[in-house]
Amino acid sequence: MMKYAIGVDLGTSSVKVLLVDQNGQVVSSVSKSYPLMQPHPGYSEQDPEQWVEKTVQALKELTEKSGVPREEIEGLSFSGQMHGLVLLDENLQVIRNAILWNDTRTTEQCKKIDQVLGGKLLEITKNPALEGFTLPKILWVQQYEPENFRKTRVFLLPKDYLRYRLTGAVGMDYSDAAGTLLLDIVNQSWSTDILRTFHIPADICPPLVETEAEVGTLLPDIAATCGLSPATKVFAGGADNACGAIGAGILEEGKALCSIGTSGVFLSYESDSNKNFGGKVHLFNHGQKDAYYTMGVTLAAGYSLSWFKDTFAKGEDFATLLEEAAHSSIGANGLLFTPFIAGERTPYADAKIRGTFTGIDSSHTRRDFTRAVMEGIVFSINESVEIFRNYGKNIDTVISIGGGAKSDLWLQIQADIFQAKVIKLQNEQGPGMGAAMIAASGLGWFSSLKDCAAAFIRTGRTFEPIPKNVSRYRDFYQVYKDVYPHTVAINHQLFDLRRVNESRFGGKTDEI
Ligand code: XUL
Repeated sequence: MMKYAIGVDLGTSSVKVLLVDQNGQVVSSVSKSYPLMQPHPGYSEQDPEQWVEKTVQALKELTEKSGVPREEIEGLSFSGQMHGLVLLDENLQVIRNAILWNDTRTTEQCKKIDQVLGGKLLEITKNPALEGFTLPKILWVQQYEPENFRKTRVFLLPKDYLRYRLTGAVGMDYSDAAGTLLLDIVNQSWSTDILRTFHIPADICPPLVETEAEVGTLLPDIAATCGLSPATKVFAGGADNACGAIGAGILEEGKALCSIGTSGVFLSYESDSNKNFGGKVHLFNHGQKDAYYTMGVTLAAGYSLSWFKDTFAKGEDFATLLEEAAHSSIGANGLLFTPFIAGERTPYADAKIRGTFTGIDSSHTRRDFTRAVMEGIVFSINESVEIFRNYGKNIDTVISIGGGAKSDLWLQIQADIFQAKVIKLQNEQGPGMGAAMIAASGLGWFSSLKDCAAAFIRTGRTFEPIPKNVSRYRDFYQVYKDVYPHTVAINHQLFDLRRVNESRFGGKTDEI
């Protein structure tokens, strides 16, 4: 009898569920999208109920579509968008919409954290205070919504809330807890020091569990609705970047991953938690026990391309746009794009910076703009690669996943700009596969995640850097790096003007 496991990837724009057999073959998958709410510039929220509703629908469709007998589906685990704040009251009901990782309203709270904790923050959490992380969001609620803060019985991250609704068990795994700025990531415990400093009751922190921990089984009514057995074992799961790393086999030193999804991530396996990257890149617990990964983040990677398409090429599909871009040239005929349309994380950590097209010429056509967007995203991610290299990491081979791995042109651009071999995976499934592997390994089908990776992951085509492209991209990259320092003051002024306008006119446009 064949056995199966399910990976649930709770993303920012959609939830994707995968049914995977014991050989790592994806038998079926279903995706369901949900909206992002942006009531003010810089705000990004979601209704947690949507995650539950859409996941249950997706699981139901998955079991119906695959026709696999429910007893053969033995386990399920999760991957989730990181950092999002979900607040629950004493009845474990959601208090307000979740504040997501790409919400940048918390600059004031980040400054406060820096002032109050100074170097202690980096010492304990190995990360700096950034708007996207969870602690600044908690402090924002504490300051601006004291009633909601007072009602809070427990806080969770997105996939932990979903897991709670599917199993009834409240908990948070280390790989996701690492992104809260409340975890002592080396000792793997909530930092009482940080909690006390900010008057956050310690008991709103959920119990911590390993990513691979078995946390229970599905609630009977959920199992019935989804067409699954109530005996289906549920494993905690991890942060989407940790799961992306697992799903791409980044499970030992020397391995690196580039993921271009909504955000763009460059990450590298790290066995030594005492390594210090000066907070310039993040250091988080891996989903693999006692391991870590370091990571730089471009906030709007794939999101820049989808924004561009929705705004300037609505009727087109991505394939057409990317095909056009192939007819532009290296450096998009002198057009540069900086993907700061939602602020930036690495290397600038600047919530007020905004994007630019620089060098617009009357000869440019849409294909140059698309090409500039694709290149700008990779230039931005390359700034993370550069930080890793400056700290002595050897980056010569990169596994590429996500939307960025779906186009040969984009993969070649990555190889040329990173100056590294870029490998795509056969039948790549992103973090959802990592989640399924957590279940597969937790179920005992394999002795470790590494063994599971050896059985499940098959590499595909390799893209080698092409020397003449490399040198041309190197020149454009130098110019790209100059755009931020030359536009930062202007962008901050624009950001502030927009804020003033917003508060004065309630976001309404002027009368004409
Ligand atoms: C990582 C981060 C994003 C989200 C995307 O720090 O904020 O990559 O995890 O879901």
